[in-house]
Amino acid sequence: MRLALHGASGRMGLAITRLAAAEPGWQLVGACAGPADPALGRDLGELAGVGTLGVELTADLGASVLGAEVLVDFSTASAVATVAGTCARAGVALMSGTTNLDEAAQAALTRAAERVPVLWASNTSLGVQVLAELTERALERLGPGWDVELVELHHRKKLDAPSGTARRLLEVVRGARPELRELRGRDGEVGARTEEEVGVFGVRGGDVVGEHTVYLFGPGERLELTHRATHRELFAHGALRAARFLIGRSAGRYQMADVLGASSATLAR
Ligand SMILES: NC(=O)c1ccc[n+]([C@@H]2O[C@H](COP(=O)([O-])OP(=O)(O)OC[C@H]3O[C@@H](n4cnc5c(N)ncnc54)[C@H](OP(=O)(O)O)[C@@H]3O)[C@@H](O)[C@H]2O)c1
Repeated sequence: MRLALHGASGRMGLAITRLAAAEPGWQLVGACAGPADPALGRDLGELAGVGTLGVELTADLGASVLGAEVLVDFSTASAVATVAGTCARAGVALMSGTTNLDEAAQAALTRAAERVPVLWASNTSLGVQVLAELTERALERLGPGWDVELVELHHRKKLDAPSGTARRLLEVVRGARPELRELRGRDGEVGARTEEEVGVFGVRGGDVVGEHTVYLFGPGERLELTHRATHRELFAHGALRAARFLIGRSAGRYQMADVLGASSATLAR
């Protein structure tokens, strides 16, 4: 499987390089970074600490996709439309995990998907995907009358709340229980909990990579669905799994749910 990377010198790019070098079947054929990257011209394997791979870091995206079957992109939102266009023209499948895309970037991905397989995911964790599926299933099975609350834990440096994953889980909750309105924390004389709310709480501290729990409270019982990230490399694992899934697929937009074989409409994002 011939792989090219965009954003190759970044934290995710290097994590994927290390994983692809260790996993059988992958051949790194191209590595692209921004034009001012001080590591341009250096060997990607050496940058990633896995020895020489014979792949030079370049700012030339067109050259880096030559001969690739799939390009994995973890870069910056403003570059994604160009990446999508390049992949479409070169006939190379695209797996992008770059976050904070605007409508124009999403539209570019959709246009590229007319010619090549494209998968964009703001969270490439396989476990989070299954947590979302389990949450949807639990809500459907239990029906109304169960209180839903969501708690997320992250390291002390995280800048935003709730996390993107928590927001995604909320979409799943709202898909199954559209009557619920989001309540971000509780403070003061808020009164008794109503049946129309879903509380969301962000806890920050230490070096927690990321933890999400969906609580479902019923009369006399409680269900807790938890995902714990213990290492950032989980995103690289999911991204490579998605990249492998795309090779040989027909053109179109795909999601992480497709990688795991799920078919839920709510989870198709
Ligand atoms: N989907 C997920 O599960 C997931 C997980 C983790 C991170 N992410 C997202 O992935 C993206 C990258 O994260 P990261 O932590 O790896 O960031 P990072 O360490 O800052 O790396 C960014 C990479 O993109 C390159 N880049 C930036 N602007 C570019 C441009 N205009 N053209 C070409 N290359 C460019 C950088 O090269 P230069 O040094 O030359 O700028 C660098 O190689 C972010 O959007 C992040 O939110 C997603």
